[in-house]
This record gives sequence, structure tokens and C-alpha cells, in this order.
Amino acid sequence: MTIPQHVAIILDGNGRWAKSKGMPRNYGHVKGAENLEVICEDAWNMGIKYLTVYLFSTENWKRAKEEVDALMRLFRRYTKTCIKTARDNNMKVRVLGDPSALAPDLQKSLKELEESSKDNTGLNFQIAINYGSRDEIRRAVQKIGEECRDGKLLPEQIDEKTIADHLDTAGIPDPDLLIRTSGELRLSNYLMWQLAYTEFYFTEVPWPAFTKDELWKAIEKYNGRERRYGGIKEE
Ligand code: IPE
Ligand code: IPE
Ligand code: MG
Repeated sequence: MTIPQHVAIILDGNGRWAKSKGMPRNYGHVKGAENLEVICEDAWNMGIKYLTVYLFSTENWKRAKEEVDALMRLFRRYTKTCIKTARDNNMKVRVLGDPSALAPDLQKSLKELEESSKDNTGLNFQIAINYGSRDEIRRAVQKIGEECRDGKLLPEQIDEKTIADHLDTAGIPDPDLLIRTSGELRLSNYLMWQLAYTEFYFTEVPWPAFTKDELWKAIEKYNGRERRYGGIKEE
């Protein structure tokens, strides 16, 4: 079995999962965060080297204030726990997205999480918070524009690597496999540049119910795919 080096996940369906149990949406988010800790360990044990998860999109601010507030409280707790887990499991954590819209204390903990785990050599774990692919590309273009203005770069020198190097994922290989839970068949503004040649796997299983066995199923399906990058396979 070929284990994908980099798996990206859109962990969706927390709200619907909770509703199906007669519970409030936030209960789904709490259970979803717990499940993320489990899946992180499972992924590493399976041989996955990079795991990138979507926790909060630039569009998720449109949700009811109570839900956004509850999610931010959960991220605060999760970040604190993650600092310990990263230390115990040798995990290197990177935050994707624009932190500037987050509360200062949460920004500070996220920085601490990145800083304290930066030399770890285990799972490379990327968490996308206030992340949107269009916003990421906009920020990259802005930085490139500034470099051109300051004479550090000529417009004609801009190649694909220049762009990739200015994205939040600079230095991280593109995902091999994208998983979206809970039945929606869309990207919802996730990693649009990076997923150009990624294999997609969609499952009806909502995130809080997504287990190691489900992850295996996705990897099995991935193994049945013939990856191509525009060329044709030699006979
Ligand atoms: C995913 O679950 C978590 C976040 C987007 C924060 P949802 O909250 O989107 O759950 P559903 O899709 O409404 O069931
Ligand atoms: C995408 O899920 C964002 C995250 C998983 C954080 P959403 O539930 O917000 O996406 P839509 O609104 O169904 O496209
Ligand atoms: Mg959703």
C-alpha cells in the first residue's frame, strides 16, 4: 500500500452530526476537535508525514455570532492542548490563514504553538484558521507586488515557484490526497492552488464519526487511482 505523503482534510459535518444526536451544533465541534487529536496520531502511525486540516474558513464569520464565539473558545482550548500534544508527539505545527482577524490572545497562543514546535521532526501538522484560498492568493500577490515596488523582484521574474513561495504553505509539498467528510462535493475555498493535481476522496461520514478505518478506506481508494500530471502513462 502506498501511503500518501500529504493528506489534506476538510473536516465537515460537525453540526449535522450533533443535530442527528439531538444535540446543539457546538457539541459537534467539541467532539470534532477531540477526533482531530485521535486522527492526528493515527495518521502519523500509518506513515503520513503531512496532515493539513481546515478548521475555520474566511467565510465562516458569516455564521451566527454564538457559533463563531463558541468556535473561538474551542480554538483557544484546542491550541493550548495542541502545544502539549505537539511536545509529547514531536509534531511540528504550522498555522495557515490570516491570524490578524483573530483575538490577540488566540494569535499569541497560535504563535507559541508554531514557535515551540518548529524544530520537531514528527508529523507536520498544518491547521487552517481564518483561511481562504482566495485570500491566501490575494495576500501572496500583495507581497509579490511590494517586492516588485521595492526593486527586489522584476515582474518578468515571477514564476510558479515565486507564487508558491509566497503562499501560507511555502515549503510544504502539495497534498497527495484530499478528503472531505459529510457528503458535500466542493472545495469551499480550500487550498485551490495546492490541490491542482491532488486526488479527491469524498465520504458521507461526518467528521466526528470519521475513524482510522475510514482513513484507511480513503488510502485504499487512493491506491486504486492512477495519478497523472497531464502526461500519459507509458504502456
Ligand atoms: C465543520 O462542521 C466545522 C466548521 C466549518 C467550523 P460544520 O460546522 O460545517 O458542520 P455542518 O456542515 O453544518 O454539519
Ligand atoms: C468548510 O466547511 C470550512 C471548514 C471545514 C472549516 P463549511 O461547512 O464552512 O463549507 P460550506 O459552507 O458547506 O461550503
Ligand atoms: Mg459544513
